[in-house]
Amino acid sequence: MVPRYLSPSLLLAGALVLPGCARAAGTATTADAGKVVVACGATEEWCAAMTSAFTAATGIKSEFVRLSSGETLARIQAARSDPEFDVWHGGPADGYAAAAARGLLDKYVSPNAAAIPGRYKAADGTWTGVYVGVLGFCSNTKVLAEKRLQAPESWQGLLDPALKQDVGMAHPSTSGTAYTTLWTQVTLHGGNVDQALAYMKRLHPNVLQYSKSGVSPAQQVARGEVGVSVVFSHDCVATREQGFPDLRVTFPAEGTGYEVGGVALIKGAHDPVSAKKYIDWALTPAAQEIGPSVRSYQVPTNPRAKRSDKSADLAALKLIDYDTTAAGEHKLELTRRFDSEIAKAPKS
Ligand code: F6P
Repeated sequence: MVPRYLSPSLLLAGALVLPGCARAAGTATTADAGKVVVACGATEEWCAAMTSAFTAATGIKSEFVRLSSGETLARIQAARSDPEFDVWHGGPADGYAAAAARGLLDKYVSPNAAAIPGRYKAADGTWTGVYVGVLGFCSNTKVLAEKRLQAPESWQGLLDPALKQDVGMAHPSTSGTAYTTLWTQVTLHGGNVDQALAYMKRLHPNVLQYSKSGVSPAQQVARGEVGVSVVFSHDCVATREQGFPDLRVTFPAEGTGYEVGGVALIKGAHDPVSAKKYIDWALTPAAQEIGPSVRSYQVPTNPRAKRSDKSADLAALKLIDYDTTAAGEHKLELTRRFDSEIAKAPKS
């Protein structure tokens, strides 16, 4: 729907970029226009801080649309002949691996990628990691105490029938957080997809509803709508800081999954020169130190970037061996199965 305050002629001329409609169709140019349009997968505040700091540092204009992982994948696939975006920044890298497998990303090895450890970047140069986030449980201890329940400390504990309709989780088709949860189950079940889906099916009666974005279940817990949610732990820490002191993070004893948040060049980007400058900048310590100023406490991938003491301590956690490439390759098939065998994807 066109907002009433915009004249149709402006829209037809492609002079404006609307939220949720990144670049008007038919505005392809061969020369770089000195502007970068970012599909941004982290929080709205992080995306705004990143794009405005990039513009301040380089003078290159930038815009973003905040999208969950599955939404970005669907949109870059749908617009592959006339891309809406130049860069994908933020969101778990298995989405990037899925996009790369479909030929939707261009290889770009930034000179600044040399500083990023090999485990945090694609071997073929299709994406590079900018942060690491760890999956955990976010509990509202007050809500759980009223039901005489403790914060869960294991994936098995989350299946407790006493938590019926008391668990928040996003939908793996739209949310990278929830897909990380699903692939974590595949890994914990020795690669057996059927057993992983069987676990999700057992969890299903406890899930109140599947939200579109991965951060929403942390807000559901804060509001007391559910007792616990499965989220990236930094989103629980950030939500607690927004005035919800009863929130507590725990990690599953069996082991937990993690994301490498990525940055990548979209194939056929309209502004590839500016896009590459954006990617170069996103890998610098200065860019990676912006997160905590907007309560985003992921761990930076650049070892020279200062790590917040509110970030998860990766060395102290039992992390599974999360195979981002394999997770990406199976993303479509697994989310389709989740959709048909467990829950329909949310519409909005
Ligand atoms: O903090 C926001 C965040 O959790 C990122 O760390 C993560 O990459 C992204 O959101 C995942 O979002 P979604 O689950 O909505 O795809």
